[in-house]
Amino acid sequence: MCGIIGYVGKEPAAPILLESLKRLEYRGYDSAGITVLNSTIETYKTVGRIADLEVVLPAEIIANVGIGHTRWATHGKPETRNAHPHLSSGVSVVHNGIIENYLELKERLIGLGYEFESDTDTEVIVHLLHYNMNNGGNSIDLLTAMRKTIRELEGSYAIASLCCNEPDSVVFARKDSPLVIGIGETGNYAASDVTAFLKHTKNVIYISDHEVGCIHPDAIRIYDLDGNLLEKPTEVIEWDLEAAEKSGYEHFMLKEIHEQPTSIQSTFAGKLMELEGTVKMDELYLNHEQIKHLRRATIVACGTSWNAGILGKYLFEKLAGIHTDIETASEFRYGNPVLCGEELTIAITQSGETADTLAAARSSKSYGCRTVAITNVVGSTITRESDSVIYTRAGPEIGVAATKTFTAQLITLYMLAIHMGRIRGVITADEAKNLIVNLKRLPGQIQRILSRKEKIKECAEQFADKRDYFFIGRYLNYPVALEGALKLKEISYIHAEGYAAGELKHGPLALITEETPVVAIATKGHTYDKILSNIKEVKARNAVVIAVANEDDKEIEKYADVVLRIPASHEMTSPVLSSVVLQLLAYYTALAKDCSIDKPRNLAKSVTVE
Ligand code: F6R
Repeated sequence: MCGIIGYVGKEPAAPILLESLKRLEYRGYDSAGITVLNSTIETYKTVGRIADLEVVLPAEIIANVGIGHTRWATHGKPETRNAHPHLSSGVSVVHNGIIENYLELKERLIGLGYEFESDTDTEVIVHLLHYNMNNGGNSIDLLTAMRKTIRELEGSYAIASLCCNEPDSVVFARKDSPLVIGIGETGNYAASDVTAFLKHTKNVIYISDHEVGCIHPDAIRIYDLDGNLLEKPTEVIEWDLEAAEKSGYEHFMLKEIHEQPTSIQSTFAGKLMELEGTVKMDELYLNHEQIKHLRRATIVACGTSWNAGILGKYLFEKLAGIHTDIETASEFRYGNPVLCGEELTIAITQSGETADTLAAARSSKSYGCRTVAITNVVGSTITRESDSVIYTRAGPEIGVAATKTFTAQLITLYMLAIHMGRIRGVITADEAKNLIVNLKRLPGQIQRILSRKEKIKECAEQFADKRDYFFIGRYLNYPVALEGALKLKEISYIHAEGYAAGELKHGPLALITEETPVVAIATKGHTYDKILSNIKEVKARNAVVIAVANEDDKEIEKYADVVLRIPASHEMTSPVLSSVVLQLLAYYTALAKDCSIDKPRNLAKSVTVE
């Protein structure tokens, strides 16, 4: 996720771009840049935040047209050469999204003589635009070239672009990444979201997929891909600035929960080869022979990432036949792990900076293990120290409680397990295809859960005054129970324990009373009957049972007091869906208790100390 802005008008462009970028900083903040246009085209960029960009700008910039970008790296580390805007002989581009076929386009453009300065996917857009503008000696305008260019792009994009021959326009295009036009009194704006220009105008036009257009100082034109001029309605924003930053959501956590259909899609973009029944994992620097001969994998992680790791263990063992241990990073480093060079260590860390996880990965390396990092932050410490890095591409997460990065970690683990399972011959192409189809269904299924969140809210409010909660699940739903309990305790301050359902009778059952809600993850699968027995055990102790179950399950109503539904789904992928339900349960419980949801007491987003 990145933030883009374009401005054309009567005011000086640079201060407007900078202020807009500050408002968009929540979308990404590892590097930033602007291009402004007067008699020449001037580009300034730097690693870091917008405040760092301000430092490198000249005191006075005379220009009324410009584009800007604040970056959350997906391809290429946070370095100045990878920061946007990207340039190609007088054409400048900022982009939010992922170009999936960029390697293929890059090869073609290099063949045509273009030189690349960055490791980004975006740079292909600007060279392709330049090429299309000048192809065959017939020069065409930027807008026409943009229409031509986006036909060649696969993936997601919101693009703003300008060129030195067209000094009073910014050209834009959109597919699967947000883009909105602001209609101002003294100029017009194109931005990733309304926050960028809300100070100047509340009149907006939302751009839809496959639309292109241009803003001028006193005109806005929007076209479809065939060049037909579109008439689009102007809407008036009713939010204030603070609400707008959260896209109208009350908290970042809620916004991030709602972003999961998109963040999951970004995480698997370009990787799922449904027809072949394979997963593309170019980032994994292990050849087929090494994967075939892997004897053991060890997952190290903390907190939510550790919970994701438990699912990883089950997936690697079932789909890839690799014995897998899951270790709490803070414990692993002080134990006496028995490791050898034929093994793989997988460090899962959203931030890439968790001190305990870094130390555990270093320790594994010292035994000669190959290390793979699964992280959301490009250029973070773990990425510099691991042999292979797989990015989760969930975009920046501001709320302290991990939500969209957790589900992105799960998706990455599914993909890694399928990839290794196919190479090792543990699953067939047909089995892999079936899983891939079900992974691809997840964004739509999550959307369905989100559209019916009212029931989860009611349930949360009903039990918000309880002191203790239990979460139980079996097999793949065990990590879901752990994560559900962790979410609830960290943001609502209710004591919550996640348990493997079969373990309850070995002690915790003593704590179950009519005052203890028990959340049972009872989705369809081969442990369904077992969890029903566990539900009966707690019901016999008068507990209130909140079941998470599939929509087509009528049986569960006989046993549970409240049923929270997920769509009918494959046993293997249902943990992602149940996790979303439990994130919402925690969120609405904390909301009912008026807790500080985005910044819970005593907690920090990234724990860089031991
Ligand atoms: C809980 C949460 C923490 C983190 C943990 C590890 O919502 O966010 O439990 O999961 O601190 O952080 P990373 O994944 O950055 O290593």
